[in-house]
Amino acid sequence: MTQTPYAPGSTIGILGGGQLGRMIALAAARLGYRCHIFTPETDSPAAQVSAACTVAAYDDRAALTAFAQAVDVVTLEFENVPVETLEFLAQTVPVRPGARALAVAQDRVTEKMFFNTFTETAPWRAVDSEADLVAAVAALGTPSILKTTRLGYDGKGQARIDAGTDLAEAWASIGRAPAILEGFVTFEREISVIVARAPDGTEEAYCPVQNEHRHHILDTTTAPAPIPDAVAEVAMDIARRAAADLDLVGLLAVEMFVTADGRVLVNEMAPRPHNSGHWTMDACYTDQFEQLVRAVCGLPLGSPQHRCGAVMRNLLGDDAHDWHTILSDPKARLHLYGKAEARPGRKMGHVIILSE
Ligand SMILES: Nc1ncnc2c1ncn2[C@@H]1O[C@H](COP(=O)(O)OP(=O)(O)O)[C@@H](O)[C@H]1O
Ligand SMILES: [Mg+2]
Repeated sequence: MTQTPYAPGSTIGILGGGQLGRMIALAAARLGYRCHIFTPETDSPAAQVSAACTVAAYDDRAALTAFAQAVDVVTLEFENVPVETLEFLAQTVPVRPGARALAVAQDRVTEKMFFNTFTETAPWRAVDSEADLVAAVAALGTPSILKTTRLGYDGKGQARIDAGTDLAEAWASIGRAPAILEGFVTFEREISVIVARAPDGTEEAYCPVQNEHRHHILDTTTAPAPIPDAVAEVAMDIARRAAADLDLVGLLAVEMFVTADGRVLVNEMAPRPHNSGHWTMDACYTDQFEQLVRAVCGLPLGSPQHRCGAVMRNLLGDDAHDWHTILSDPKARLHLYGKAEARPGRKMGHVIILSE
């Protein structure tokens, strides 16, 4: 793969049309790039702010071929793009991150095995049948969490198993799909680290942040996370190591649990910008979206250092209708994603409050 940078003026192809794609495109535009979105969705948040958009299915070979010919480099904002799509595009154009990072992130069992080569996760068992579930619960005890190995997000495809839980019902509730049972981690807090990695292997990690979820959806991120420096270093090292081992070019977000005795356990990863990194847009020298553009285009990475702390709150569903109240705090930084329909739980925007 060429080390020549894709200079400003080049076209970045983005797989996925959601808010992450929109914010990548905005950062890319600021650096003089054009973005071409590929998504099955019409009037997507990303297409609204991009130079071009192809609306087609991820397995539409003709549309993919035309897209690959129209762009200089491809990245993604959506984790569940089929690996075959990336492999097909990669025959024509560099795809960053590549198929391997995506394949690991898409399967919770593969992901756990990958992290367990160098660090700790919750104890887990693969579950492919009701009998497997019974055996796994016997081995790991309760409480524990049953998760589909693929296509889960925002707590979807998960069932909590307690002492009295009917296991046949739990197995049915997640659709009897290949799954993983994880021992429940009694964590003190949840944190995440985002690391950028350039084609030459250079890495820059953002400081760990603390994440609080409501109804399994990220509600608030506090940056930096209030944890001892030594714990922060361990967390950043895990993210750097993972990106290097995957030979990833782009961004890797790693979600982790911190226990009361200071242990760091990896929960899951995403090889793309992450909701817990939105605070960087207003608080860091280089935000996560610009950093991704720099990484995939082979530009020097920017400083991930924060100029101040920040609290980021997601605006879900109707929360976004409060834009007027939010803006009446003259220091609040409001980001809206241009989504027409405010369905309950849908990510409509976020607000960032900087600490002095
Ligand atoms: N093994 C676990 N122990 C305790 N809490 C967990 C565990 N796994 C997940 N959770 C909780 O559920 C949330 C969502 O689970 P996660 O695996 O991150 O799935 P998703 O893909 O939906 O983000 C986590 O952020 C955490 O709060
Ligand atoms: Mg998660």
